[in-house]
Amino acid sequence: MTWERTFILVKPDGVKRGLIGEVLKRYERAGLQVMAAKLVSCHAEQAEKHYEEHKGKDFFPSLVDLLTSGPSLAVALEGANAIEVVRKINGDTEPRTAAPGTIRGDFTHMGYGRSKELSGTIYNVVHASDSKESAVRELDIWFDKKDFVDSYDTILKGFV
Ligand code: RTP
Ligand code: MG
Repeated sequence: MTWERTFILVKPDGVKRGLIGEVLKRYERAGLQVMAAKLVSCHAEQAEKHYEEHKGKDFFPSLVDLLTSGPSLAVALEGANAIEVVRKINGDTEPRTAAPGTIRGDFTHMGYGRSKELSGTIYNVVHASDSKESAVRELDIWFDKKDFVDSYDTILKGFV
């Protein structure tokens, strides 16, 4: 068991649709704990930095447009195997093929074809770090040290 911290972002499509509670509920019930959270209206520079691995891809400009189109909820989550667990809860990138029971499978149904007809990028409610390195990098982009609670005096580790 690896105790990890990861980063998730309820993207503007998820915030606009009123899905913050639905999304956070799924992580909390899986035993993950919120260590920091804030609503952020980010600028293009921050959005580009966050998704810098995708720079140059055809969907990149519209992905940046999506992230700057309204507030996102940035959240730091901590728990056992948090990075893998959160990616599993989120589901596959393309909602059309994401499994039922996942956030992307339950709340959106967009396929790559439809995304091209609309904005050019997939609307899939939520982002999550895909590795320890990206978690550290992304937490640093979205949060200051003072945003985090020091630690929870809980017995959470005993439940998972
Ligand atoms: P995320 O980074 O947001 O957690 O998503 P992911 O790992 O599942 O997928 P990734 O490949 O990192 O893509 C980042 C986000 O870019 C948008 N996207 N649109 N062809 C397309 O229309 C396309 N491909 C990717 C999605 O919003 C995806 O979550
Ligand atoms: Mg990704």
